[in-house]
Amino acid sequence: MKFVKRQKDLCYFFPKSFNLKNIKFQKLKIMYGIVNKAIQGLVKENFGEDAWEKVKLKSGVAHNSFLSNESYPDEETFKLAGAASEVLNLPLEQVLIAFGEYWVLKTGLEHYGSLMRSGGDNLKEFLVNLPNFHSRVMLIYRNITPPEFRISDIENNSLQFHYYSQRQGLKYFVYGLIQGLGKMYKVSVKTTIIKSREDGYDHDIFFVSW
Ligand code: HEM
Repeated sequence: MKFVKRQKDLCYFFPKSFNLKNIKFQKLKIMYGIVNKAIQGLVKENFGEDAWEKVKLKSGVAHNSFLSNESYPDEETFKLAGAASEVLNLPLEQVLIAFGEYWVLKTGLEHYGSLMRSGGDNLKEFLVNLPNFHSRVMLIYRNITPPEFRISDIENNSLQFHYYSQRQGLKYFVYGLIQGLGKMYKVSVKTTIIKSREDGYDHDIFFVSW
């Protein structure tokens, strides 16, 4: 399956010590339904309607559909991601990476194309502008609990990408978002996680080169 093969290629960059059991999801509050809707789209488009029905059943999430601008407990999003991993027999980090790519290439570009394109003319510009991105998103989704980003060590073809969040467990989603942005700008990106909250650091740091 093309989708699985591509994700396997990405795994090449994971540290050898990576262990799925280290991933901890933190219960927070609520997330706009657009996020669950994207998980639904990712599963249906790549694996079909039946797979989605199984994921929904396994997750215990009762809704048949999600409204983009309604709020749902974070827990539901994490349950859907976990159930997708079990039903599709894919490691959770691969599901999160695929979800990050989908978020940029489908949810972002297809539904919010002008907002995405306003982020910059190339990958470097987009990443350098990223710390302000969700303040524009908040004009549409007023009550989000947005992530925070900081960019440092900017060179011609690389930078360090700092991710702060009130939520825990979304590091590989961010990894996938960066891969998706590379595809959006048609550049080959290599991302390495150099510091992680799982190792006691207060945020995650990615080294991104292109
Ligand atoms: C038009 C494009 C985008 C829209 C409409 C959007 C919207 C949202 C929304 C509604 C949430 C849920 C937050 C909540 O309900 O509290 C969210 C979360 C998030 N977004 Fe975006 N976003 C966009 C692009 C991006 C991009 C380009 C990135 C990074 C490269 C990004 C990174 C994240 C992350 C990491 C989260 C999880 C929140 C957390 O860590 O606490 N988003 N976004």
